[in-house]
Amino acid sequence: MPELIFATNNLHKLQEIQQAVGNKINILSLKDIGCDEDIPETASTLEGNASLKSWYIYSHFHKNCFADDTGLEVVALNGRPGVHSARYAGPGHDHEKNIEKLLAELQGVSNRKARFRTVISLIMNGNEIIFEGIANGNISNQKHGDKGFGYDPVFIPDGYQKSFAEMDLDEKNIISHRGIAVRKLLNYLKSYDK
Ligand code: IMP
Repeated sequence: MPELIFATNNLHKLQEIQQAVGNKINILSLKDIGCDEDIPETASTLEGNASLKSWYIYSHFHKNCFADDTGLEVVALNGRPGVHSARYAGPGHDHEKNIEKLLAELQGVSNRKARFRTVISLIMNGNEIIFEGIANGNISNQKHGDKGFGYDPVFIPDGYQKSFAEMDLDEKNIISHRGIAVRKLLNYLKSYDK
């Protein structure tokens, strides 16, 4: 069975992808290949970081691989927190603090438009292909729901009256940035397989 390394140690993401590809491709984590290095995420864009991670793995392990990076881009904040979404509230950051900071920055701001964007960099036999998934929506004034993670409680996707944190994972995946990007990746892998 062909193998593909996913440059992550996030078991949740790994299982999600393995389940979606079925038994056609064996998806390996960083742990599976014995990589415990801190892969640099020093680029200033999501594309740059996804690309840095996947090329790092390809050049060290010479195996087909992919990496992802996601950010929340808020229009009134000129696209912030974007590539800095995970560490928006600074060192010792957690999701609660990130949300608090976001709501504080948007206090009194009427334009609440935002989008989640996921970028996946896939490297097959030395060629890089980029896949993108976008979920458009608005930032609410307060938190709603307790499912999901990250900024989910304050993100109301377009066409819905509820936040990502009020949706089951199945429902969120259909419209989410990551769901869309992953389906593009899987479609590509399926056609590659033929
Ligand atoms: P990562 O690149 O997938 O690790 O995502 C970076 C950061 O973006 C996370 O730490 C979260 O703060 C935020 N994020 C990514 N995906 C989501 C999501 O689906 N919902 C809410 N927040 C997310």
